[in-house]
Amino acid sequence: METGAWNGMFDRAVGVLRRNDMGGWTRAAPNLYPHQWSWDSAFIAIGLARLDAHRAARELITLFSGQWANGKVPHIVFNPHAPPRSYLLGPEHWAPAVPTPDAPAPPRQTSGLCQPAVHAIAALRILEAADETGAGETADGARMFIRHLYPHILAWHRYLLNERDPEHSGLVTIYHPWESGTDNSPRWDAPLEAVEVGDLAPYERYDLQFVDEPSERPAKREYDRYLWLVELLRRASYDEAEIRRTHPFAVKDVFFSAILVAANEALLQMALRFKAPGKDCEEIEAWISRGRQGLEKRYDSRLNLCLDYDLRADESLRIRTIAGFASLVAGEPQRERHDALIETLFSHEFAADPRLRWPLPPSTSPVEPGFHPRAYWRGPVWPVISWLYWYSLRRDGEKERAVDLRRSSLEQLNVGGFAEYFEPFTGEPLGSDDQSWTAAVALDWLSEDS
Ligand code: SER
Repeated sequence: METGAWNGMFDRAVGVLRRNDMGGWTRAAPNLYPHQWSWDSAFIAIGLARLDAHRAARELITLFSGQWANGKVPHIVFNPHAPPRSYLLGPEHWAPAVPTPDAPAPPRQTSGLCQPAVHAIAALRILEAADETGAGETADGARMFIRHLYPHILAWHRYLLNERDPEHSGLVTIYHPWESGTDNSPRWDAPLEAVEVGDLAPYERYDLQFVDEPSERPAKREYDRYLWLVELLRRASYDEAEIRRTHPFAVKDVFFSAILVAANEALLQMALRFKAPGKDCEEIEAWISRGRQGLEKRYDSRLNLCLDYDLRADESLRIRTIAGFASLVAGEPQRERHDALIETLFSHEFAADPRLRWPLPPSTSPVEPGFHPRAYWRGPVWPVISWLYWYSLRRDGEKERAVDLRRSSLEQLNVGGFAEYFEPFTGEPLGSDDQSWTAAVALDWLSEDS
């Protein structure tokens, strides 16, 4: 482990995760996000694996205790002890119009959306960490937990591959920008604009009390639509067929789809290790090739990016964001395309814009008209996204690029702390302080030599 250069950063990151530990699960941030979030938890588990594999596995087990009967892993598992008026939308906003047998029984309360499926990647990391520790109660307990989790992760992926891709396109359909994890990215501007807001009840923005400026969070126009889309899903009682037919927001998300391919690679390794039936492995292998083929079709050779597809408008969303490098996350099999993507990622349109404080890819390209350097997913640098690209580059032999990405990210965190996201030109920390997943990826980076 490379410790000297980073002045106690490891201990500071551990401190964040300890303070946000709610006993078996970790709140995403102290004030802004007082519940357990799905993809946050997966990244948190990746960091925790460096401290205590058993505790890391518990993080995932607690999240999956909120899994729905149809395999969906909800994007929020609510904390019943969260302070009142701390997070909108609370559990009361998600209750289905007609009770659905798919949702977990009380007292478990969850949202009805999902988020990118990073969980299998985290589970495999936990197994690797347990193996490094060797025998002993902690490592054995972690291995047992992950073995128990395996069929639940399989059911989760099966939900995504079937319910969210009945066309077998290899691409996941999302029904809400929150499902992408990149809420107010300009990727969603056009499909969101097309959503007509109905009789929405008045609401109060609790999130704005926890940031310095409202511009750091999505705008009211976006929030109206976020709330309305949830209301429609709730009214449809989360019935997949009904939503597929009637929901006004339905987009094939390339980034979500690519993470799923990488997660399926991890799941396949778990299946082989646990000697799962051969048909599991065949099913997962088919998902991986379907996912890669789907992404291949979404590649735009003029922009050198993968583009999302709006199912309602029947058109590609030609927006330059970090999601456009999706097939690097999935593992791009064509050398030429791989090189073109890398070239774009490290061009002046992204990580090599000379105005950047650190050469890290902004969430939206500064040349994109919808770019805003302070506004959540419209421009700031998100360390977890840098981690995903670091992980992908390293896996695919892009050693030097990966080393640079890690070093610049650690410099960013050393100066700015474990913020939720960063202004790309000044490096100013934005959003929440002490964001758990930021501390977690720092722990993972600090536990590596390069
Ligand atoms: N990221 C969303 C929020 O800001 C919800 O998942 O509330």
